[in-house]
Amino acid sequence: MCHNCVEGPVHSGASRRSFARFLAAGAGLTVLAACTPAAPPVVAPSSSLSLSTSPAVTSESPSPAASPAVESTTAAVEPPAPAPASPSAALPRQFSLTDPASPWLVVNKHRPLAPADYVPADLVQPNVQLAVSGEAALLNSTTAASAEAMFAAAARDGVVMTLASGYRSYVTQVSTYNGYVATRGQADADTASARPGCSEHQTGWAFDIGDGGGVCSFQPCFADQPAAVWAKANGHRFGFVVRYPWMFHPVTGYYYEPWHLRFIGVEAATDMANRGISTVEEYFGVEAAPGYP
Ligand code: DAL
Ligand code: ZN
Repeated sequence: MCHNCVEGPVHSGASRRSFARFLAAGAGLTVLAACTPAAPPVVAPSSSLSLSTSPAVTSESPSPAASPAVESTTAAVEPPAPAPASPSAALPRQFSLTDPASPWLVVNKHRPLAPADYVPADLVQPNVQLAVSGEAALLNSTTAASAEAMFAAAARDGVVMTLASGYRSYVTQVSTYNGYVATRGQADADTASARPGCSEHQTGWAFDIGDGGGVCSFQPCFADQPAAVWAKANGHRFGFVVRYPWMFHPVTGYYYEPWHLRFIGVEAATDMANRGISTVEEYFGVEAAPGYP
C-alpha cells in the first residue's frame, strides 16, 4: 500500500508556490491565545444533556511512519501573492468564523474555542450506524441531520459508514489528549490530538467515520477504504469536508485524518471542492496553524 501516493501528486508547481506564500503570510500574523490544557476550566454541565459519564475514547492514532513529508519550494523569484481565498460572494449566506455555534467556525491551534468549555445547546444522536455510545454518539442537530443524509446516501451506494467518534466534551478531550501525551510524548501527541479547548469534536460540527470494524479504523490505510474514498468524493454534497487532508499539516497542524469530517454547509463545502481549496484555513482566509503559539 502506498500511503504517500494518496493526494500527494495533485499539487502543481503553481499551487506549491501559492501554498508556500500562504504559510509565509500566516507566520507573520498575530495569533490568538493558545489552548491551555494545564489549566482546565470548571465545566458546567448543560441542562439539556443527559450523557454517559464514561464516554468512549477513540484511538485516533495516525502512525508516525505514515507522516507525510513537508512540502518544499525551490522557486527563487515569485510573482505577487494572490488575494487570499475566501468564500464565494455568491454564497447565499455568510457566517461567523469565531462563534462556536457557527458552521463556519474555524478552530485550530491558533484559534481556541471561546469559551474553552463550550457545550453545544442542541446535541442529538443521529439515526446512523453507531460504533460508539454516550456523548461520542452525539452531534449538533444540524450536523446530525446532514450526517443522516450522507450515511443513507453512502449506504445506497453500497458503502458501510459508521459514526466512530462524535461530540467530545472539554473534560473528555482532557483525558484523550493526556492519554496521547502519556503514550507518545507531547510533540507527537500534538500532531494527532487537539489540546482541550481546541478540538472540533467539542463543537458538534465534526465527527470521525469508520467502516464497521475494519482493521484500518483510525489508521492511515483508512484513506483507501470505501468509506473514506466515498466521503472524500461525496461529502461536500452534504456539507462536509475532510478537515485534515494529506500534506496540509503545515496549515492545519495535524497529519492526514481521512476519517475526520467537518460540517461547513453544502454551499461552502461545494464551493471549496469546486475551487480545489483543501483546508478551511485557506478557504476562510485565516492564518495557517502548524503549532501552538
Ligand atoms: N484529532 C483531532 C485533531 C482532534 O483531536 O480534534
Ligand atoms: Zn476527529
